[in-house]
Amino acid sequence: MTENTPQRTWCGRGRSATVAPAMRTLRSRARRLATPVALVGPALLLASCGMDDESKPMNVFRPQGEEAHTINQIHPWIFGIAGVVFVAVTGAVLWLVFKNRVHGDDLHPEDLPPQIHGNTRLEIGWTIAPAVLLAVLAVPTVATLWALESREEDPLPVMVVGQQWWWEYRYDTDGDGFFEGGADADVHGTSAFDEDDLVVANELVVPAGRQVDLTITSRDIIHSFWVPRLNGKRDAVPGRYHPWSITPEEPGKYVGWCAEFCGLSHARMRITVIALPEDEWQEWYENQQRPAETPTDAAALAGQELFAAQCASCHVVDTPNIEYPDDFQATQVAGVAPNLTKFATRTTYAGAIYSQYRGLAEPNSHELDVSGYLDLSQTATLDVAGLKAWISDAPGQKEMAPPDRGMPAFPGLTEDDLDNLVAYLATLD
Ligand code: CUA
Repeated sequence: MTENTPQRTWCGRGRSATVAPAMRTLRSRARRLATPVALVGPALLLASCGMDDESKPMNVFRPQGEEAHTINQIHPWIFGIAGVVFVAVTGAVLWLVFKNRVHGDDLHPEDLPPQIHGNTRLEIGWTIAPAVLLAVLAVPTVATLWALESREEDPLPVMVVGQQWWWEYRYDTDGDGFFEGGADADVHGTSAFDEDDLVVANELVVPAGRQVDLTITSRDIIHSFWVPRLNGKRDAVPGRYHPWSITPEEPGKYVGWCAEFCGLSHARMRITVIALPEDEWQEWYENQQRPAETPTDAAALAGQELFAAQCASCHVVDTPNIEYPDDFQATQVAGVAPNLTKFATRTTYAGAIYSQYRGLAEPNSHELDVSGYLDLSQTATLDVAGLKAWISDAPGQKEMAPPDRGMPAFPGLTEDDLDNLVAYLATLD
């Protein structure tokens, strides 16, 4: 750039009368479009971040757990500073664009604005400013990370295992620090898993008000555990054990999703957390550790027999009534399918996408009267038709890839077989 650079052509200044008619048409069209965009844009934006309580289960601005509150405390800071930067940078860009607008007909090389490449002061300025900004932002961020890592006294340890496409929860009932039976686990004969530990599927049941110390892992590929109202996301990675925690403040139901694409049914790998008052949770916990009882009615007995023949190569029911053959050991230890010992105590099945009982709110909502949770199997009506449809053709209802991943279809089962199986499942409470 030389000293005698001529004036730039400013917006609206020096514009010749040669503006092409095409440009005018384009501009009037843009103007006509501008009104609906101006109306619809903010409306969509508002809809996406609505604060409405029940209809927006993914809303992270409704923390109901200590960890989620901790994260929410830094939201205004990070979002505020980022917002100021966004407005400043976008404003500057728009201002420069409009200020230096030149029309094709008027463009001459000498119209170019002064070039600032290599301006030392500017270079130093826009290196230091973001560095300072990031350093400031790092303070609350790192403090929050530390706060999220902290463990309160007497937390409840639970291992979370991601699977294609459901979640398994292991309770360290004997307090040995391990969640699996290890070498001495008795997978033959009477018990299909370490009887000192408790393995459940689809529903994580915890005491309200007590911190739950999670160890998150995966058995196949990478998933991510996310219950927006309780805490942020944490990846479930095979072979790695990630610490995380949740502390639901009140009894209730909290829903979540797998937040890492994990194949066909990633969107159908839901999370249900049920927080119960401490004494009710204790009752639940003790009941879950009892083996399944012998069914009393004929249909359920027939169902149990079918279960042992057809389902027990993948699913476990911890009971003295089923003699697991030795060659079932491999698949059972792999834990490829949900443990069904207390199937009828849960509200959901199939990766928490379907309600097990009729009349319950949609599994994907926070609505559930948890005061009746322990009596569900006595008071609610099982969705027999839904369960039969699921058992006979699971991949038809949820994308899966059996035999490698997910539950296969059982086209050979008759209506009677299905009725008996469901009758058996109904006794598992
Ligand atoms: Cu598991 Cu996405």
